[in-house]
Amino acid sequence: MDDGSGVKAAEASNARPTAHDATTDAIRHSYKAFPYDSRPCPTSTPARIATVARLLGVEAPDPARARVLEIACSDGGNLVPMACATPGGRFVGIDLASEAVEVARGMARDLGVGNLTLIDGDLRNLPSDLGPFDYIVAHGFHSWVPPEVRVAMFDTMRTNLAPDGIAFVSHNVMPGCALRGIPWSAVRPQVMDIEDPARRIAEARAVAGRMATTMSRLPGMAVAVAEEFRDLAERQDIVLVHDDLASLNQPVYLRDIAAEAASHGLEWLADADPSRHVAYAYDEPMNRWLASLDRMAREHVVDHLRLRRYRESLFVHQGRPPGAPMSPERLGAMHVAAANSTVERHASLPAPPAAGDRSGPAVQRRLLDRLVRLHPSSAPVAEVVGWIAGDAAPGSPLADPPQARQLLLSACATGVFVPLGWPVDANRVAGERPCVFAPARWQAERHEYVVNLRHDGVVFTDAVQRRLLPLLDGTRTRAELSQALARIAADLGKPARPLGEHLAHFTSIGLVER
Ligand SMILES: C[S@@+](CC[C@H](N)C(=O)[O-])C[C@H]1O[C@@H](n2cnc3c(N)ncnc32)[C@H](O)[C@@H]1O
Repeated sequence: MDDGSGVKAAEASNARPTAHDATTDAIRHSYKAFPYDSRPCPTSTPARIATVARLLGVEAPDPARARVLEIACSDGGNLVPMACATPGGRFVGIDLASEAVEVARGMARDLGVGNLTLIDGDLRNLPSDLGPFDYIVAHGFHSWVPPEVRVAMFDTMRTNLAPDGIAFVSHNVMPGCALRGIPWSAVRPQVMDIEDPARRIAEARAVAGRMATTMSRLPGMAVAVAEEFRDLAERQDIVLVHDDLASLNQPVYLRDIAAEAASHGLEWLADADPSRHVAYAYDEPMNRWLASLDRMAREHVVDHLRLRRYRESLFVHQGRPPGAPMSPERLGAMHVAAANSTVERHASLPAPPAAGDRSGPAVQRRLLDRLVRLHPSSAPVAEVVGWIAGDAAPGSPLADPPQARQLLLSACATGVFVPLGWPVDANRVAGERPCVFAPARWQAERHEYVVNLRHDGVVFTDAVQRRLLPLLDGTRTRAELSQALARIAADLGKPARPLGEHLAHFTSIGLVER
């Protein structure tokens, strides 16, 4: 069934029987009373999931033609840009919150996205004839729904995931959430009877702030826990309401969710974020002990070492060959880019040493600089290995390609760089008729963030830029845009900065297609 705009509503005929219960009604009500603003989740994109799988030596379906189901797609902030950027794919989203799905439909319609079906309804009523899917994504779902819906989630994955498909599930985890849970149990009872979300948020912040101030002056562990209260007091409104204060919020140990998935014929493959894979980066006795453990036990110990509180887990059908550790050889056929956090930290680093210094640290520092300047675009690993060899002293270890690839893999495993199976090529220079990624244009008018060509969410608060960006659709010349910019700045009573400055910013955050 097509609503005439290319955005299809679900066929009702194959729907499973309607599920109704008080908990689901309460969840529906909470998202209606305080709408969720769903952000792009880069690690949940087929390209990033396939990258991790292939780094582990596991086959993954072609992201360019992927069939994707997003469970809990909300207002489409993750799914619609994905569908828009992947015209060869086919996308389905489902969410209980009909108001949010209506927003997603509007976004898809405005952007002319025709490869997307959006369903407002309970996952338990998902029409049975939609699959199979190469990728099934459930972000922000598992920990926040009742047990029977978690069962429905894994059931959907078992039934609808293609034999070589991969599922993505984000979830709160123990033991880190045991620490988060201290403020939860102190603050929730104080605010849970306050109906008005704005008042509930204000009171929660006040209680948490009070607790933080007092506990920071008390002896022992209280100081550490005070930080948790402080964090809660400063959390974004939607996270506070739908995570910290949510009446349903069930963190799990990784091994428990892995067992839950196993009872549905699915196997935990790996963390979706390569920088979260177990790196033997501890003292020697710990590294040796970790290496002696089986995979799940090792992850369990490392979750304690890192006090992890959140995970993004990938699952495959049981019986597929298990993944091997990430390998530098497999990275050799891929691309790398600077991570967003690297770019943030880079701003405060001293300038890189002059080219004459060919020591290992100097070479690495210049490499960092080069990839930061390219950010958010990527470079082929083969090319980067060539840069390193050209920069390092002849005969030094880094001049050896396997060692250079190992260095790059270590940088990916520690989150300095991001491995990418497919290149990200955001334009470095805007053209005569600048054109920006369409979903970002749409979001700039409505949100204080936009999605870029790497599927990262970028904070976007400048009032002038929020009105300028939607005009960059490839139809206006720079001269026309300069005139429009002058009018926008005058309108907002802001100083008129040259168009080039704004365009330089848009290219630097990866928004410009041409
Ligand atoms: C925390 S939000 C996450 C939204 C989005 N995936 C994200 O992470 O930005 C949880 C979403 O799950 C949806 N949801 C909860 N129970 C559901 C169910 N039984 N079937 C479908 N969606 C459900 C809610 O409506 C809400 O939009």
